[in-house]
Amino acid sequence: MQDQIDKILTQAMEKIKQVENSKLLDEIRVQFLGKKGELTSLLKNLGSLSAELRPKMGALVNEAKQKVEAEIEKMKQIIIAEEMKMKFSTERIDVTLPGRVPKRGYKHPLRIVQDEIEEIFLGMGFEIAEGPEIDTDYHNFKALNFGDDHPARDEQDTLYIDDNLLMRTHTSPVQVRTMQQKHPDPIRVICPGRVFRRDTIDATHSPQFHQVEGLIVDKGVRFSDLIGVLKLFAQKMFGQDREIRLRPSFFPFTEPSAEVDVSCMMCGGQGCSFCGKTGWLEILGSGAVHPNVLKMSGYDPEIYTGYAFGMGVERIALLKYRINDIRLLFENDVRFLHQFK
Ligand code: DAH
Repeated sequence: MQDQIDKILTQAMEKIKQVENSKLLDEIRVQFLGKKGELTSLLKNLGSLSAELRPKMGALVNEAKQKVEAEIEKMKQIIIAEEMKMKFSTERIDVTLPGRVPKRGYKHPLRIVQDEIEEIFLGMGFEIAEGPEIDTDYHNFKALNFGDDHPARDEQDTLYIDDNLLMRTHTSPVQVRTMQQKHPDPIRVICPGRVFRRDTIDATHSPQFHQVEGLIVDKGVRFSDLIGVLKLFAQKMFGQDREIRLRPSFFPFTEPSAEVDVSCMMCGGQGCSFCGKTGWLEILGSGAVHPNVLKMSGYDPEIYTGYAFGMGVERIALLKYRINDIRLLFENDVRFLHQFK
């Protein structure tokens, strides 16, 4: 038995010396010292020895076990140190490397233009008012003096939710909501927002687009106040040298009504291909708020006057950036959007 002990001991010592990682070392421990380990089994066999030999052999086996245990413990320390060293070198962080900068988004051209419009009017003392994108027939049409059979009310032009609710076709209903809320206080608001029409998309049309509405209501405000506001807007948006001109027009909610043009920023009004040789570019609709409209929303037209205007944000963006197709604003092709960084 002594030979056997020596043999196992040498074998164990040999194996421990060659071990490379703590997992293998653990396997060796199980192989020799575990419940069914080689040395442990020898202890179980002591019973077959003579009473004389038994304690002697028992002591020898235990001595061998202790040696193996000590050797494993020694090796364990070496391996742990090795493994730590490996870990430190492979997981080392170079604190001098530049950080990973997250990609930052930037504004869409429509947002740039809408922010600029808002900025210009806020600078003139206007406040911002908002209304719902789904509105009633009353706010979108009736309270704006549209007749029952006005063509804009047709299902061909307007997206209806039901008989009473619709996708607003313009931001003008926010005029109504603001007057309902504020009367008889004076009003100076702009109303930016999304609007919807039953249009097929092409280079100049989109079933959804953006408008900014303007409304001034007070005692003693005049058409010249409106003209002054719009001229300042045109100059801030398109350049100091811009002129505006008003052409008579018709809207049910204004009387008189005017279409407003700005002098062409490409040719300065001489006439070029950009302005169709006219020297002018149409930018918005406007007018004096119709007495019926004031009355329906709580203002006495004998005491108050109102002036309103409405512009398409896409149209302003197309003119400002000389873009020739409205679809570019909605397709979100990054090659296009990158140009507005
Ligand atoms: N709501 C009109 C449209 O969508 C635009 C407009 C014209 C608004 C004249 C106004 C205005 O406030 O006075 O075509």
